[in-house]
Amino acid sequence: MISAIIVAAGVGERVNSVVPKQYLPLMGKPVLAHTLDAFENCPAISEIVVVISPFHREIFLQEVMGRFSYKRVREFVFGGSTRQESVYQGLKVIKERGESQFVLIHDGVRPLISQNLLKRCIEGVREHQAVCSAVPCVDTLKFTRDGKTIEQTLDRTKIWRAQTPQAFEISLIWEAFQRAEEDGFAGTDDASLVERLGKPVYFVTGSEENLKITTPEDFLRAEEWLRWKDR
Ligand code: C5P
Repeated sequence: MISAIIVAAGVGERVNSVVPKQYLPLMGKPVLAHTLDAFENCPAISEIVVVISPFHREIFLQEVMGRFSYKRVREFVFGGSTRQESVYQGLKVIKERGESQFVLIHDGVRPLISQNLLKRCIEGVREHQAVCSAVPCVDTLKFTRDGKTIEQTLDRTKIWRAQTPQAFEISLIWEAFQRAEEDGFAGTDDASLVERLGKPVYFVTGSEENLKITTPEDFLRAEEWLRWKDR
């Protein structure tokens, strides 16, 4: 069985809005509802655990669960003050039930996730136990220590930009989260917790379309992608 954790417990300070970005409308529908649609429509995924902030309980129930029907959303849980803590809360639910072999972890603010990418993640995790969606870097990358001058130009052929979904065999990601907790390690994604166990994490090819909604401009970009897909 394959579960999904959608983390949506962030407060979204960068979008300058009282309504957090995962609940703002994208083509008339909350960002998070677009994300949930993609997972709901993927037959290989048996259940979805949504991680929300306790402050957003009402808006989540009204604007997402109240307006749309999701058969695969099994539960919602409250997240923590960091993304890592939020994922951990979702993972605990899935681990305690002991029904799933794999989990896909995805940011609620990446609403343009495609069925093809979900499929690549599922095939990848079945084969490799740990996979990370990522795209190769097209920009030339500069390393700086002082934020003012360039210290080094990095070899961009060796740099990939990580996205979500990231997918893992349950016992492996559980071990990674427990070890991170014991060591007080804070990572910005889930793969980094597995990497520090010394276990391989394989890339699956992500997509430029799978953008993370961070700024108001990202809403415009996401709408353009959606219009382009509709044509
Ligand atoms: O913080 P960032 O913008 O990278 O957030 C990525 C995803 O993690 C978002 O969907 C956000 O709602 C979620 N998140 C969370 N709990 C937090 C912080 C972020 O679920 N404490």
